[in-house]
Amino acid sequence: MEQELNSLRGTALNELSEITSKEALNDLKIKYLGKKGLLTGMLGQVVNEIRNEIEDIIATKLEAMKQAELSRKLASETIDVTLPGRSTELGHLHPLTLTLNRIKDTFMRMGFEIAEGPEVEKDYYNFEALNLPQDHPARDMQDSFYITKEFLLRTHTSPVQVRTLQSAEPNQPIRIIAPGKVYRRDYDATHSPMFQQVEGLVVDENISFADLKGTLELFLKETFGNRVNVRFRPSFFPFTEPSAEVDISCVMCEGKGCRVCSGTGWLEILGSGMVHPRVLEMSNFDPDKVSGFAFGMGVERIAMLTYGIDDLRLFFDNDMRFLRQF
Ligand code: FA5
Ligand code: MG
Repeated sequence: MEQELNSLRGTALNELSEITSKEALNDLKIKYLGKKGLLTGMLGQVVNEIRNEIEDIIATKLEAMKQAELSRKLASETIDVTLPGRSTELGHLHPLTLTLNRIKDTFMRMGFEIAEGPEVEKDYYNFEALNLPQDHPARDMQDSFYITKEFLLRTHTSPVQVRTLQSAEPNQPIRIIAPGKVYRRDYDATHSPMFQQVEGLVVDENISFADLKGTLELFLKETFGNRVNVRFRPSFFPFTEPSAEVDISCVMCEGKGCRVCSGTGWLEILGSGMVHPRVLEMSNFDPDKVSGFAFGMGVERIAMLTYGIDDLRLFFDNDMRFLRQF
């Protein structure tokens, strides 16, 4: 019996010494010490000593294996805290957004509030209530994208004038700008099918053309400084009378005439005028009590002149080589 036990011990220790994995260690534990193990159910001091001996060896080996595993993990997952960090590239605002922000800033300092209107607009607001009835020839100047007979993509921000007048108390003072996207069937170096305008509307008692000129001149000085020449040119809009368009001397050719200014030396940036009495009337304002002026400027044109860009389509190409320069 004792001899049998001794050889069993010998075999067990032998097997143990060759084990290198946790799984094999577990198998051996079951084989000798498990419920149906070779040393289970036997009684006696020697048997107990052998069982304890095997259990001790198993525990020691298991601990050593765990340590080795941990060291391996630590070695492979080392972080070198002295490495330089990876920097994230910071973007910046689009040149058109920068331009629009500057325009808003200037007018807000003059006490204007910001108004908004929908890009999908009713024919009524875009044309009709601006004194441009169906079949009026001036509609051709703003060839449009129609969605239905009644709805179109707005061709200018002027419908916000009407919306503002109609949501205000009649004859109360108004001083707003309305920035936003507008759409036309246009496409060349100074015309894109989608572009942005900033509408302006001031209504109060005794508003005159001098107020219009003073306001726009202040804005133009703030925006362009003394670098450029400005000219007011008589023009026509059905919703203003009298009307004027404002041109800035072309920065590309310094007024000599080039592709950008179509050889004229000037680039048109806005339309303006005194609000037509019919427009006030149609929106329940009394033209005998109040008067007003309005303007609508092209944001892309102003950005072109600010940055010296000779083709406004560059603003919409999303070419990083272009955009990184601002
Ligand atoms: C208008 O749109 C009038 N609603 C402006 C106005 C408002 C007049 C209030 C009187 C009172 P016009 O079509 O000229 O006018 O356009 C105004 C400005 O938008 C132009 O001076 C120009 O700077 C810009 N613009 C016009 N078409 C385009 C286009 N396709 N791409 C880029 N800018 C354009
Ligand atoms: Mg015009």
